[in-house]
Order: sequence, then C-alpha cells, then structure tokens
Amino acid sequence: MSHDDYPTDHPAVVTCGLPYANGDLHIGHLRTYVSGDTLARSLRRLGQQTAFVSGSDMHGTPVAVNAEKKGVTPEEFALEYHETYAATFPEFGIEFDNYGHTHDDTNTELTREFVREWIENDHIYEKEIQVAWDPEVDQPLPDRFVEGTCPYCGEKARGDECDEGCQRHLEPGEIEDPVSTITGNPAEYRAREHEFLRLSDFQEYLKGFLGRLEGTDNARNQPKEWVEGELQDLCITRDMDWGIEYPGEGKEDLVLYVWVDAPIEYVASTKQYSERVGEEVFDWTEPWRDGDGELIHVIGRDIIQHHTVFWPSMLRGAGYNEPRAVMASGFVNLDGKAFSTSRNRAIWADDYLAEGFDPDLLRYYLVTTGGFQQDVDFSWERFQERVNGELVGNFGNFVYRSLLFAHRNFEGTPAADVSEEVLAEIDDAMEEFRDGLNDYSLREASQTGIRLSRFGNEYIQRNEPWKLVDENPEEAAQVIRDCVQLAKAAAVLLEPILPHAAERLWAQLEEGGSVHGARLKDCLDAPPENFGEPEALFEKVEDERVEALNEKLEERVDTANADANEEETVDDGGEDAPEAPTGLEPLSEDRIGFEEFQDLDVRVGEIELAEGIEGADDLARLEVNIGVETRQIVAGIKRLHDLDTLPGTRVVILANLEPAELFGVESNGMLLAAGEDADLLTTLGDSEPGTKIR
Ligand code: MSP
Ligand code: ZN
Repeated sequence: MSHDDYPTDHPAVVTCGLPYANGDLHIGHLRTYVSGDTLARSLRRLGQQTAFVSGSDMHGTPVAVNAEKKGVTPEEFALEYHETYAATFPEFGIEFDNYGHTHDDTNTELTREFVREWIENDHIYEKEIQVAWDPEVDQPLPDRFVEGTCPYCGEKARGDECDEGCQRHLEPGEIEDPVSTITGNPAEYRAREHEFLRLSDFQEYLKGFLGRLEGTDNARNQPKEWVEGELQDLCITRDMDWGIEYPGEGKEDLVLYVWVDAPIEYVASTKQYSERVGEEVFDWTEPWRDGDGELIHVIGRDIIQHHTVFWPSMLRGAGYNEPRAVMASGFVNLDGKAFSTSRNRAIWADDYLAEGFDPDLLRYYLVTTGGFQQDVDFSWERFQERVNGELVGNFGNFVYRSLLFAHRNFEGTPAADVSEEVLAEIDDAMEEFRDGLNDYSLREASQTGIRLSRFGNEYIQRNEPWKLVDENPEEAAQVIRDCVQLAKAAAVLLEPILPHAAERLWAQLEEGGSVHGARLKDCLDAPPENFGEPEALFEKVEDERVEALNEKLEERVDTANADANEEETVDDGGEDAPEAPTGLEPLSEDRIGFEEFQDLDVRVGEIELAEGIEGADDLARLEVNIGVETRQIVAGIKRLHDLDTLPGTRVVILANLEPAELFGVESNGMLLAAGEDADLLTTLGDSEPGTKIR
C-alpha cells in the first residue's frame, strides 16, 4: 500500500460493508453502497485501476433464528435475500465488479485458510469460557440469542454488540443481566471450550497502523482509544450449526463467528472477480497479499471497530496487506431516530423504486446531504428541495438551456475555441475533483460538476446569448461553445454520483460510447459538432407528491408505532416512560471532530438591509456585511422580527453554506438564530463584521 495520491500505479479495491442476508434493504444501507459505488467510479475517472466488490453476509444468529421461524433452512433463507440484493443494487446504478456471498465455496475455503494461517503463526489459543445458556431449551445462547445490559455504557445491548449505546463489540459472557431471546428466561452460564484470536499480539502493530490509516476522521480516531487500553482477545468460534466449520481437528461442533468470515469475503469476492476476468486483467493477490494495492473499505459508523481493530489484525496474522483507508459514514435516520426493520420505520429501497423515481436523485441526496460522517435525517421535503434546487433548477436547467440553444442556432457545438475564462473554470473543477477524492470527500468531488453548472448559469445570464445571436453572431458562437463544453465537463464530473443522468446527457451530446468510460481529461475534449434537440434531464418533484409520500410514511410509521406501543405496554408492565421535563431536544450523542467544526466558516455580520419577500409569508431578504463582502441571505424571520429595526444589528452568519434559491431569491449563507422564535445570535463585544467565530 502506498500513500501516494490517487491515481497510483497499483490496483485499488473498494469494498462495501456486506449486508446481512436477513431483511429488506433500506436507504440507510444504501448510504454505504452508493458511497462505495461513487468512490469506485470516481477513482476510475482518475484512471486508477479499481475493483469494486462486496457480497451478502449469510451467517450469524439472526439468519439462523429467522430461518427457523419461517421453517426453511438458513441457507435457503439467506440465499433468497442474497438474490434480491444482487438484483436491487444495479437498479440504483451500484455496479459491483463482483458480488458474492459468505457461504460460497471461495469464501469458505479462503476463511479456513486464514484460520489455518493464524494457527500456524501461533495467534490462536483455546480457553474454557462461560457462555450464556437457556436452561429450558437446553442450548447455548450465542450473540443475538441473548440480550441484556452493556457492561461499558449500561445501555440495552445484544449478545455481541452494544447496538443502542456505545456501539462496542461484546465478547461472549460479557453482557450483564442476560436474558434468552428464545424463551425470555434469564440465561444461565455453562462452561464451553472456545478458540480465541490473540489480539494483544497485534497491539503495537495496530497503534502504528492507525497512525497510517487514511479515510474519515471517525475511523482514524475512535479506535485509538481502544488500542491504547488492554485489547481483549476475540472469541472466533460459536456453538452453532449455521456458519463455516472451524478447521481444527475434533472441533466439528464449532462454527466460526460471523465476523471472521464476513470481512474475508472482501478478499474472496476480489478473487472471484480475478477468476472471471483473468489474472492478467486483475490479479487479486497483488493488492491483497503479494504485491501492492490500495484497499479501501466503505462502511457505516456502527462497524468501525470491526474494520480498524479486528480486520487489520486478521489480515496481519495471515500475512496479508493492510487497508489503506476506511470511510465510515453517519447513519440515515427518520425524525432523529434510527430506522427499525421490525417496526417498519424506514424508507425501503424497493418502495423508492416503486415510486418510479430516478435512482440518481436518491444517490445525490445520500452523498451530498450533510457531511459524510454526520447522521442525517431523511425527509421528503429535503429530498424535494435538493432535487428541485440543485438537479432540476441548477444542473438540469443549465444543460438544457445550453444544448437547446446550441442545437437551434448551430445544430450542435459551434465552431469556436473555448474561452480562457471557461477553460480555467473547468481546470479548477478537475483539480477540485482530484483533491476532493484524495481527501476522501465524495461530496467535494461530486459538487464540482454542480458548481460548474452554477457558473454556467451565471455565465449565460451575464452574456445573454439570445441577444448576441442577432447582434454579434461570432460572440454568440463563442458563448455557446463555452456552455456546451461546460455541460460536457459536468457530465464527466457527475457520472460517479449521477450515472444515469450523465449517460442521458452524454447521449444528448451524441458523444457515442458511454460516459462510464470517460476520464477526467475528457472534460476538455471537444463535444461533437452535431447533436439533436435535448430533453430535460430531471423531473421536478411537486409539492403534492411530497404530501402524498409523507402521508404514506406517517400512516405506516403510526401503525407500526401503535403496534410497538402495545408490545411495550406488555413488556414494561404498563409503566409510561418518564417524560423529558423541559421539552428540549435531547443532546446529540454524536461527537464531531474539531476538524469538522473548522469546516464551518462562521462570521460576524452586520445587517445592512432587511425586507420581506413579496408573496412569501415567512421569508425576508437580508443584505449582510461580512467584512470582505456583502451577502444576500434569505431568512425565515419575516413574521418574527420587525424588519425595519434590523439594519445595524450584529448577527452571526454561516458563510460557507451552499447557496440555495428560496422563492426565486438566492440565499448565500445562513443567519444563525435560536429556537422557534428565531432569536438572533449576536456578539457581546464589538467584533468587526467578517471576524471568524471559532
Ligand atoms: N454484515 C455486517 C457487515 C459486515 S462487513 C464485513 C452489517 N450488515 S448490515 O446489513 O447491518 O449493514 C450493511 C451496511 O449498511 C453497513 O455498512 C452498515 O454500517 C450500513 N448501515 C446499516 N444501517 C444503516 C443506516 N441506518 N444508516 C447508514 N448506514 C447503515 O453490518
Ligand atoms: Zn455500550
């Protein structure tokens, strides 16, 4: 693995956290897969050889439990979900080079080889431990067969993970107040022999590894604390039938813990890819074991420990290469609460597709809303706002105007050279794309195309080609030539995030071939001389649609909540949960790094003008002096403040918020205010406008 800038001379492997073959996919899962796909496409854009792989996670207790409930074998049960996933991903343009599963022969064999290597390298030992046991059904209770209290944070937890609290992995026997999920009885403990991977062998190695690891800050920093303290060894076997059999002699009654064979599927899936395309095209051993390569894991923040502590140790212990980067995204929530499969509280991938929406709209939303590491609340209003504002109003509008004008007046790309100004703009965008990717910021990379089209819209407005066509045809040709080039560059830059829309645009330009194969340098290649009449790239999401979608969602969640409440009344003996005394929103559990805070450009400003926006009930247009310039900002304060008294007031502005159009007025920044009454933030002393807040 190198730390060279992408593209490097070595093959890259981009992987996505494997989905458990245990339920329907929701848009939370899709955040992992869309991000991985966007990353893989972006790397290829730079010319980096890239394999993009994943597979279904078939083992583990939930699969075994649910299969039994359904009266089918775990294999049948999991395979059905596996096939559904394999068919769903391409519908969202998520194009894995290989999508396997953990129960296939490749992974079974490779996993057993890994374990044999660990045994040979003396990283494995056997120990008798106390495992939770259900006396009524007389069987062990591995992992999710048992529930109780997390010994680290006191939250309710599952046998192997503190899913509602600190997110830590829990070893067998660690959970407190264990209760069997089969019978509801308090669990007892019985002594059993199990196999352990000695993680302490890797402690020093891991400290160094975390110092080298690239990717998102959460993945690089959170585990530091875990590897500083005592590292608990990892129990790698379970008392179950469903899983990969432990390869040691006389241990046939033990299967490997699901988190052993799951990440090894990253390797197995790459191997299958090599076998399919031939090793001369992609040799899996090069990045993984015998040579050099860039291993990049894209996951959600709940499985950071598995990817930054367990997995690197597993690789190291078997003589494999280490990951170069881990990118861990925040969660997608609904109204501040986690999705819940059992309560049907989620936006399902299938439901989204059934609505007939362009998959690119969701891709765009998932990759560009909020910071990558932040949890985001999904809302159809926000979805509509992003789609209508940025995709329809900005990008779609720009390319449609440009191509239509070009087609009507020049039957295609006018014969003129691209202007210096536009060349420089495209060059900058290409550089920002490259830099964004090297910073592991998919949002930065993806925004470059959107910024180009925003520039394009301003450029058209400024040059008014509709006037020039009669007045100065030569200049008209020049301006339109520039616009067509910008449109083409936007297609190249946006393909990783909007593969379908970029392909439509490519076809409208009559480029031939697929934009998928384009490289960054093609941003500057001349578009075809002739092309036909364009069509709008996106459809607007109407208000009525949003209302209908919200109604459907509310109905579904209400029904699910009502069911859940009933259950809870039974569970907790009818006691109501105490109400929060203040009515305040709970404090966010998620900490952000200082670097993330520093990304916010917050400034002191002075209001120079405040007036209501005609036709809008709540919106006011403000002109705010922020030292270096005066900004136009739209704020929802028309009815909450006496606008005439505002000029001269010192306020606090988030200056680097993306511009947005509200009621036809551009808002370039955000006025910070507290609560429902929009109590305006101001400064106690007399900091000058433009002073940065830190
Ligand atoms: N099977 C394990 C991963 C094994 S990787 C060797 C698993 N499966 S999962 O189905 O629960 O999650 C699959 C991916 O989706 C993971 O990257 C996970 O972090 C991500 N997410 C699951 N729910 C999510 C949200 N609500 N929001 C964002 N990402 C989420 O974990
Ligand atoms: Zn915990």
